Amino acid sequence: MKRRDFLLGTAATAGVMGAASWGAARSTEQQLTIQTARFAFREKPTDGLVSLSPDAPPPVIYGTQGNPMRLRVANGTEDYTAMHWHGLRIANAMDGVPYLTQMPIAGGESFEYEFTPPDAGTYWYHPHCMTMAQMAHGLTGVMVIREAEDPGFDGDQVINLRDFRLDGNGAFLSYYSARGAARGGTHGNVLTANWLRAPVYDHPAGGLVRLRIVNTDTTRIYKLHLSTAQARIIAWDGHPVEIDVPLPSATEPLLVGPGQRVDFALRMPASEGQTADLLAELPGQPTRTMAKLRSVGTNLARNMAELKPLPANPISRPDPTNAEVLDFVFGWTPEGGPPNDGYCGSLGYSFWSINRTPWAGDAAKGTGPLATLERGKSYVLRLRNESPNLHPIHLHGLAFIPIRSNLRTLPPLVTDTMLLLKDEVAEIALVADNPGDWAFHCHVIEHQKTGLAGYIRVT
Ligand code: C2O
Ligand code: CU
Ligand code: CU
Repeated sequence: MKRRDFLLGTAATAGVMGAASWGAARSTEQQLTIQTARFAFREKPTDGLVSLSPDAPPPVIYGTQGNPMRLRVANGTEDYTAMHWHGLRIANAMDGVPYLTQMPIAGGESFEYEFTPPDAGTYWYHPHCMTMAQMAHGLTGVMVIREAEDPGFDGDQVINLRDFRLDGNGAFLSYYSARGAARGGTHGNVLTANWLRAPVYDHPAGGLVRLRIVNTDTTRIYKLHLSTAQARIIAWDGHPVEIDVPLPSATEPLLVGPGQRVDFALRMPASEGQTADLLAELPGQPTRTMAKLRSVGTNLARNMAELKPLPANPISRPDPTNAEVLDFVFGWTPEGGPPNDGYCGSLGYSFWSINRTPWAGDAAKGTGPLATLERGKSYVLRLRNESPNLHPIHLHGLAFIPIRSNLRTLPPLVTDTMLLLKDEVAEIALVADNPGDWAFHCHVIEHQKTGLAGYIRVT
């Protein structure tokens, strides 16, 4: 398998968490108030951001596998909202999809999300109502679900990658365009990690650090690699990687689409002050440093070989030989009125479709599921990309395993988001083990909001 053939999704988190804090938080209760915020990405502050505090990015939310979480989301804005927990396999009623699993949360109202994460790993959260507007203005945060047992790292670093579209005065430029929505999406011009430009985080020299990278951008497919070879990919889209995956490089970077996450284990350089860097390749530009990890203190002299594999999450393994095959075609729409998204914000066009039908809208009455799956059965979903653009296709509530593609060898990883390449036909397999109506859409939000969405029912 060539490295460039290996496409993963990423999601990372921000913040430093020492191994010492393991086990501190058991059941989690937290109040999250969506509000407008102000923050200086460059010299001049940017107003009109949406976050969970007045002057900072949405925080990393920590939970522990198998322990209940209660997150009370209050809407302190004038727009409607609903919060989704990307990648968590929880009860449908807690999934945060407006009109499908709950009604939108009005300004001044709140909604209590209660769930017990079945899986450990790197996940994230974002609104699913006013999705484009609120995400583009900042409301995307990382969730870290800790393993029940401390896996023994000397440091834990979350990196939330996201772009903003700002003018020279720090003011927001329009966050979508009809031209972008009909093509690859509208890209931001200020690239950040944890809302910072090339932040530096300190970790113990010679220590083993878990680097959790999350792409929460609305558009950009990040092409990533590290400056160090003392590293290994240990998880992909939340779930532990059980096979040896080649390390990405400048010439063969890792593609991480919106919604995807990659966890690296890396060994910090031995001498104080040296760094291990997260690097991005951007079209027509020199390699960009997204974040740096800097060694501090005396050399812990840890060895990559000391790493124990992460315990597998309790995913039902599909039996593809015994599975019904369901076809999904992603492409442009033959015709398109604007979707009816009710209180959840429409971009005003339909450009995209699944199975040649654009999503009628979040609030459109009588919109049936794209497919109905029987609980407990294995299925193969055959995903065909009929467009020249890449689409990170995301399914809520269920984990799946890519099994085959017409273009590349797909490593058998457990995931919730599949980055479909141009002209790709990929098959993914799953067990329909979580009942409910599960949103199924492209995570380039301009595509999602202009037709490339639907849902799958598990009965
Ligand atoms: Cu991360 Cu339906 O979304
Ligand atoms: Cu999701
Ligand atoms: Cu798309």
